[in-house]
Amino acid sequence: MTQDAPRPDKASPHKASTDKASPDKASTDKASTDTASTDTARPAVGITALGAYAPPKVVTNADFEARLDTSDEWIVSRTGIRERRYSEPGDFASDMGVRAVQNLLERFPDGLEGVDTVVCATGSPDAMFPATASLIAAQVGLRGAAAFDLSAACSGFVYACSVAHALVVAGTARKVLVVSAEVLTKIVDQGDRNIAILFGDGGGAVVVEAVPQGYGFESFVLGSDGAGAGSLYIRCVADRLPGNIPMGQYTYMNGREVFKFAVRVLGDSGLAAMQKAGLGSKDVDWLIPHQANIRIIESACERFGIPMDKTVINLDRYGNTSAATVPLALAEACQDGRIKDGQQLLMVAFGGGLSWAASTMKWYDRAAHAAKSKVLAEVGA
Ligand code: COA
Repeated sequence: MTQDAPRPDKASPHKASTDKASPDKASTDKASTDTASTDTARPAVGITALGAYAPPKVVTNADFEARLDTSDEWIVSRTGIRERRYSEPGDFASDMGVRAVQNLLERFPDGLEGVDTVVCATGSPDAMFPATASLIAAQVGLRGAAAFDLSAACSGFVYACSVAHALVVAGTARKVLVVSAEVLTKIVDQGDRNIAILFGDGGGAVVVEAVPQGYGFESFVLGSDGAGAGSLYIRCVADRLPGNIPMGQYTYMNGREVFKFAVRVLGDSGLAAMQKAGLGSKDVDWLIPHQANIRIIESACERFGIPMDKTVINLDRYGNTSAATVPLALAEACQDGRIKDGQQLLMVAFGGGLSWAASTMKWYDRAAHAAKSKVLAEVGA
């Protein structure tokens, strides 16, 4: 990358300030902040069902030690990753997505009722077209739904949630299935120790629709800087990027450049999202970051003033599953009871583009609300 990415406060259409001191200051001024869920003119929109999938095949650091010039010690100390999951040779992104949706249905049997739109965030689609979203929709009983893919690399899930949110707020869609589905291990050179150790496969799925006022998404901050495209890419039709950068067969990554970029934009965009929602770091119950490198996450936590024990981390077990990391972490923390109804979440991600995305959300636990309504009905309240 020859030029630094602009900071989100310059590049984002939201023009949110990223002043380091601002989130705590902003929390004192909540009432004046215009956000999706506090603005009663707009419906509150959030996540009402979720699921995730990681293939059963585990690839450990010892497996890499056996065939590459690397060590468990190097991988753990530089990345935090201990193992990752690999899809089978005949499985592709749509398979990861379908199984994530099946997991959602196991937990929320009526979760897909009324879904009219499917968005798939993926950087490793089955085909250029048809959209992987269409392939998934047809296999989960959603033939006829609008379906399209969204390409924002590892930022894709947060980007896709913002699109789903906007579609519901605008009335274009009523209920959107957002799926992240990735098989990066198939397009990463397994003989290159610089990159092979980082990635795993998997999928996540969430349903986005109207939720009661006071819940749901509060802010989104999205950005990208194509001047940094040469730091992280995988070829498609073209054999070179603008600037005459030739693209080879496999995913290319300049680890050091991406690292510097990630540290900057995760902090900047997360702070901007908090400020836009009128939140301070003390208001955040759970940070759900893109799971690329533990050192990048630690630096973001330091910037935010959010302790690591309020951060959902699973990269030690799954590695970087690109657009699937955030929904995988979100689903896991909901399933094991860490994330509870009404808690304040902050999601932050970065990736190829170069791109970045952050969002704050008040968690709506549909199952908890349904159980409460049932009890109230039983006692005749
Ligand atoms: N095992 C052992 N040594 C390795 C290695 C491995 N798996 N991978 C790289 N090295 C070597 C390098 O060749 C280099 O050797 P040299 O000094 O002789 O040239 C040395 O380790 C240090 O490399 P460097 O790139 O400075 O390491 P690092 O501390 O920056 O860590 C990454 C490398 C890739 C882990 C780190 O840069 C990173 O995580 N970057 C961001 C990547 C990312 O987030 N990608 C996903 C984007 S969504």
